[in-house]
Amino acid sequence: MADTIVVTGAAGYIGSHTLIELLKEGKYTVLAIDNYSNSKAETYNRVRQITGKEFETANIDLCNYEALLKSTAHLDKIAGIIHFAAYKSVPESVAKPLLYYHNNLETLTNVLRLCEEKAIRRFIFSSSCSVYGNTSDLPVTETTPVQKAESPYAHTKQIGEDIVNAFALANSGFNAVLLRYFNPVGAHPTGLIGELPQNRPNNLVPIITQTAVGKNQLTVFGNDYSTRDGSCIRDYIHVCDIADAHTRALDYLAEEKNNMPVSLFNLGTGHGVSVLEAIRAFEKVSGASLPYHIGPRRAGDVEAIYADNRLARTELDWTPQYTIDDMMRTAWKWQQTIEKESA
Ligand code: UD1
Repeated sequence: MADTIVVTGAAGYIGSHTLIELLKEGKYTVLAIDNYSNSKAETYNRVRQITGKEFETANIDLCNYEALLKSTAHLDKIAGIIHFAAYKSVPESVAKPLLYYHNNLETLTNVLRLCEEKAIRRFIFSSSCSVYGNTSDLPVTETTPVQKAESPYAHTKQIGEDIVNAFALANSGFNAVLLRYFNPVGAHPTGLIGELPQNRPNNLVPIITQTAVGKNQLTVFGNDYSTRDGSCIRDYIHVCDIADAHTRALDYLAEEKNNMPVSLFNLGTGHGVSVLEAIRAFEKVSGASLPYHIGPRRAGDVEAIYADNRLARTELDWTPQYTIDDMMRTAWKWQQTIEKESA
């Protein structure tokens, strides 16, 4: 039997797209763990439909270490863990900091404890460009100094990286890749899976697609920034490109290409896109005109951030494939699936 990869947060947005990549590759068997706090178990059926492959699932709250241990007791050899499970809303983290510190850090320490107990040597951690804080050093490289976190969410990612580094220092033979995602958007090209916010979304692209179907109202948060059109600039990256980077990161560790126990990569396209440009890209691919109004700046927003992605390109042999138009086209297709299914 092939070695197993444990994927936590596997029913979530990035987790489910990565599950597809892993199953398509077929190098490993997969144990998919989630507690469906911000996802649905039904997503797994879509993953099975897309890939034609089977995999094991477990409904586990990772804050419960005993449950985690039990769910993996039957597995002979775990080749690695990809740890996605975490809360991810910036505004919610500002309103409920303890929830974020508790959940995001306890789940991480429990998963690392499992690595220690079962001698699991490969680990991939979902980090975020939000660790860079409000930096004026653009594009950001992996050596750009990390600034003060702008939210408890971002702080949990900074602390999370520190925890993985400390753990690697104390456990020789343990190797990790930290992936700093920029702004993951878009959906699987089949239109079968995508981001499934359980509550009102806070992120731009789901708000754009919901606005286009009359379920939300888009406010552009500020048009007085020192950018080319006054709106904020971000590095939007297709979720399937992010997923692809995870299987490459696993290969990188399996082939022992890493020079250090912990490697760090930015995952962005390298291109900044303004909020108004993103809206125009959506209008172009959907053929719809999107109503929006300009509102005040949103607290905690950084003016502009985009990646220098050369390290991931060379070390992981990773090349983002999707353009901003593809991102909007697939997000729109996914919104139409949601509409059809809720009709
Ligand atoms: C932030 C984090 C990112 C994290 C993500 C998780 C930073 C720099 N980035 O992304 O690492 O993974 O949260 O949720 O902290 N906007 C509007 N109107 C809206 C919604 C958004 O104008 O209704 C604008 C925002 O001001 C921003 C851009 O759209 O300029 C993207 O916002 P959003 O999708 O919320 O992501 P970030 O806050 O950039």
